[in-house]
Amino acid sequence: MDLTKGQVLDLTISDVAFGGKGIAKVDGFAVFVDKTVTHDTVKVMITRRKKNFAEAKVLEMISPSPFRVTPRCMYSGYCGGCTWQYLSYDKQLEFKTDHVKESLEHIALIQGVPVHFALPSEEAFGYRNKMEFTCSDKRWLMPHEFQGEDDSHGFGIGLHAPGIYNKVIDIDACHLQAEPGNGILAYVRDFIGRSGLPVYGPKSHQGFWRFLMLRRSVAEDQWMVNIVTSSEKKDVISKLAEEIRLRYPQVVSVMNNITAKRASISMGESELLISGEPYISDKLGPFRFKISANSFFQTNTRGAETLYKTVEKYAALTGNETVIDLYSGTGTIPIWLSSSAKTVTGIEIVESAVSDAEKNCRLNGVENCRFILGDIKDTLPTLEQKPDVMIIDPPRSGMHKEVVGSVLQLMPERIVYVSCNPATLARDLGMLKERYKIVEVQPVDMFPHTYHVESVARLERLPW
Ligand SMILES: C[S@@+](CC[C@H](N)C(=O)[O-])C[C@H]1O[C@@H](n2cnc3c(N)ncnc32)[C@H](O)[C@@H]1O
Repeated sequence: MDLTKGQVLDLTISDVAFGGKGIAKVDGFAVFVDKTVTHDTVKVMITRRKKNFAEAKVLEMISPSPFRVTPRCMYSGYCGGCTWQYLSYDKQLEFKTDHVKESLEHIALIQGVPVHFALPSEEAFGYRNKMEFTCSDKRWLMPHEFQGEDDSHGFGIGLHAPGIYNKVIDIDACHLQAEPGNGILAYVRDFIGRSGLPVYGPKSHQGFWRFLMLRRSVAEDQWMVNIVTSSEKKDVISKLAEEIRLRYPQVVSVMNNITAKRASISMGESELLISGEPYISDKLGPFRFKISANSFFQTNTRGAETLYKTVEKYAALTGNETVIDLYSGTGTIPIWLSSSAKTVTGIEIVESAVSDAEKNCRLNGVENCRFILGDIKDTLPTLEQKPDVMIIDPPRSGMHKEVVGSVLQLMPERIVYVSCNPATLARDLGMLKERYKIVEVQPVDMFPHTYHVESVARLERLPW
């Protein structure tokens, strides 16, 4: 059948692609259908026709997949925060495992490597220790608001529609965060409304209020409220801090990041401590960590413990190894491995994260870790140390090609590669596979109800 834009047809979904879209085949031709899962039968309209595939949107659900469950959240299907709430958790884990396997096979042409079934997150809701809500002068209306009385485009503070940076859904409650996160969100919304100060417009780039970032310490149930604004108005933020801390004694830190940059990034050019401490303290295993507003810390605390246990197992340290940890963040992996290695050197580009990592070592009485501040691309080639083991945990974009080159110069006996993106995991392992055996891969689910998945790969140097 030759498909054309605007054509309406009935399809049965046979698979799910990475990114969460369902796939149906029409005479072998792939049609990607948003918000569907395997075994859904749907009436769709073709919205885009390309040479090798088409895209379609659902007009009507004819018969739902048995893998579907009722989502807990009223924004499910509209909010980009989590796209898979309608899919049973077991199936989410199965699809994630398959995506890691398929990425290795199709992108890296790596066949036959054991990819174990994804380890589940201990908590399926309330697991995020960090949420970032965006402010917008015009909120994005939900379908029921169009018909309702309240169809004014007042300001919003919430999460984006999937992949659309300037459409902010005003979120009453997000089930990915614990309470009183949603109470704090409501309070800040109310304060913004009362403040008389304008909310930032993602299109106009005018306005004061930009983001609300909430961080939670799971061990202590402490909260950090980080308000991101476009300019400094300390008296206003101090008043907000005072009100919030009175109402929510769990809030031990109120920060104000200030950024005039147009980019939708919450890290400020300057940062003010408004009230309390400039960090919160959390625990991973037996270790304590102080985390400041802009430092990287795994967003699922219990999930991070599962991840690090897998890293520890794959690193197989005996106490005599020299270890290098690339992309070390606040030093969590070096500290986790410190008692089983001779030394661990972390390299990290964010200054506050390195400073946190050093403080965290002192806090835990760890003396055999050191941290180098800088871009790994530039600092790794200058290292004189020859590592026995390397841990590599890059951001979503994976390793820079030059970093791969430096790793292949250093040639540690073992590499443990941690990745939050199956595509760049596959790309990077594809570049390492000539010199390393990919022994096994363990996906770890840190992000229930999203299609994202973390993976840990164990690599062993091949004999010359
Ligand atoms: C995925 S996080 C991993 C952090 C840490 N391993 C953990 O588990 O918490 C990636 C880290 O890499 C850092 N980073 C990104 N690009 C970098 C670069 N070019 N050089 C050094 N560090 C970089 C980021 O600041 C971030 O802390």
